[in-house]
Amino acid sequence: MEVEFPLSERDFSRIRERVYAVAGISLSDAKRTLVVARLSKVVRALRLNSFDSYLDYLERHGTADDSQEFVNALTTNLTRFWREDHHFAHLVDYVGDLMKARASQSSKRLRIWSAGCSTGQEPYTIALTLLSALPELKRWDFKILATDIDTAVIAKAASATYPDSELNGLSPERTRLFDKLSDGRIKVPAAVASLVSFKQLNLMSTPWPMKGPFDAVFCRNVAIYFDKPTQAQVFGRLGAILAPGGFLYIGHSENLGAGGAGFRLVGKTIYQSRSERAKDAA
Ligand SMILES: C[S@@+](CC[C@H](N)C(=O)[O-])C[C@H]1O[C@@H](n2cnc3c(N)ncnc32)[C@H](O)[C@@H]1O
Repeated sequence: MEVEFPLSERDFSRIRERVYAVAGISLSDAKRTLVVARLSKVVRALRLNSFDSYLDYLERHGTADDSQEFVNALTTNLTRFWREDHHFAHLVDYVGDLMKARASQSSKRLRIWSAGCSTGQEPYTIALTLLSALPELKRWDFKILATDIDTAVIAKAASATYPDSELNGLSPERTRLFDKLSDGRIKVPAAVASLVSFKQLNLMSTPWPMKGPFDAVFCRNVAIYFDKPTQAQVFGRLGAILAPGGFLYIGHSENLGAGGAGFRLVGKTIYQSRSERAKDAA
């Protein structure tokens, strides 16, 4: 099949180097077709005639928006509501215990971070699940930070609006948690959505702008795109921003590798911070 813009070995190396340097994403050889499909659209929109000229343009004249568009095109954003459901069951038990333990404290604070939140289904699942299981949380200082490197997915997530196909496979109880719009789409109710703050954040950036500590961090199916040293670095940093005894939830095919020193495995892809570190976290 003839392709509009052929991808030379040199073009592919340049793309790989750039996306690794910016986002920590390691593209394997198997990703060539994906790269051609995703970036051809960008090359065409810029009215350029090859990947070579696109890469020259990015290096010499590219704006911050051009660089962001390059990254957005190469991220994989697959997600869904209640993905890897057992994490949410664990979270409900953990937060229930934590609420009992903090009941006598004046500060009823709960902080959760969804790192690599894509189009928002993960942080909204956290909010919907916890509020329906533990309604007392409405009176708590409860906030979810949801971040992603990709500005396009963050914009979609902030709208809290999805096609109704997102409900496929969900139980009637879960389906009822969403508002139904007159155009057939579904929306996360405003009172739930308001708990979630979406921000663009590259996990490679140092230092991260937030202090923490977080009681739980979801970083699921994000580090699979990183190489081992980068995974170790990110998981190590997540350990440092978790509250002592807090939990880290990772994707079904992931492990912490060399980043696991500060954690103990407590369930399937669920890790607890061993840290006794100072409360004024990273
Ligand atoms: C497959 S989605 C996972 C979404 C969700 N966590 C889940 O498990 O359903 C991976 C997300 O990681 C984001 N990502 C990749 N590299 C990143 C980086 N360096 N910093 C922050 N987010 C990144 C991508 O933009 C993408 O939205």
